[in-house]
Amino acid sequence: MKKVLSGIQPSGKLTLGNYIGAIKNFVTLQHDHACNFMVVDLHAITVPQEPAALTEQSEAVAALYIAAGIDPNKANVYLQSHVMQHAQLGWLLTTLTSMGELERMTQFKDKSAGKESVGAGLFVYPALMAADILIYNADLVPVGEDQKQHLELTRDLAGRFNHRFGDYFTLPEPYIPEVGARIMSLDDASKKMSKSNPNPGSYIALLDSPDEIRKKISRATTDSGREVKFDPTGKPEVSNLITIYSQCSGLSIAEVEQRYEGQMYGPFKKDLAEVVVSVLEPLQQRYREIRESGELRSILRQGAERASEMAEKTLQDVQRLMGFVGK
Ligand code: TYM
Repeated sequence: MKKVLSGIQPSGKLTLGNYIGAIKNFVTLQHDHACNFMVVDLHAITVPQEPAALTEQSEAVAALYIAAGIDPNKANVYLQSHVMQHAQLGWLLTTLTSMGELERMTQFKDKSAGKESVGAGLFVYPALMAADILIYNADLVPVGEDQKQHLELTRDLAGRFNHRFGDYFTLPEPYIPEVGARIMSLDDASKKMSKSNPNPGSYIALLDSPDEIRKKISRATTDSGREVKFDPTGKPEVSNLITIYSQCSGLSIAEVEQRYEGQMYGPFKKDLAEVVVSVLEPLQQRYREIRESGELRSILRQGAERASEMAEKTLQDVQRLMGFVGK
């Protein structure tokens, strides 16, 4: 049984990109693997967060995990800040990370671009992410395409630690879906769909109402052609919509193309909206039930307790290997 770890930041509304690129795969992996799925609140504060919003969004992400089908009896669902060993190992790994490595991270470059003042937390973020993964010696990390570089750094840091202090860490493999690893914006297919985009029309939030979803999809940019054909270079907008269709319906890309052969964008987009609504409406219903049940905090507490056991063992091993005096 492989060990799986992943996390999502509670920094705004989760989008269909998060669902297709990450959460959907969490749900699949939980059946055959030992899974830890976190809400990475310590990562979220690398950019300023309003305290009340951080609380609300952290609970919302945890509830969305469960609403999407993660069973907290099968997988550990918890908040990163409840397992403090993440931050402790994060510090140890920061000391093994070079400035040059961190400067090369595209997520850092994107998030810091044009800013007058950039927090040091944003800079060292990838070392904390490496700790998230290595603290459980995870084998597999389900993520979207944009996290690939962070995963490579994690492997480098694991290898560096092993080289200096003795073979200890597993080199984790990214688990990046072949289709849907990079869902693009609805208004511009050259940018990834993102919860931090100021234009809400560019993304579908998992909690958008069915009418909002229909409106956003009907307004999604399409190229001037008319064929519903998958061609990411020549027809990036339509290809993105076909990908979303495929991921939400379970049909392959070829089956979607076949279904709309000879038809124009209008009927395709109309059906796409219904396909997305058919996935998100029941998810939203479950989401409301979980939020209203009052059970979330105890689920998170239990998840953190189970995760802490393993995390504490790793931290102690690592400290011993590095030469810290034991208690
Ligand atoms: P975050 O919170 O930005 O995104 C969460 C997950 O969603 C994926 N994703 C997408 N996939 C496809 N298309 C998109 N448009 C799209 N947008 C986001 C991301 O790739 C990610 O898998 N650094 C991470 C959080 C993190 C983490 C970890 C992940 C912290 N520690 C340990 C894995 C393991 C992040 O910022 O993801």
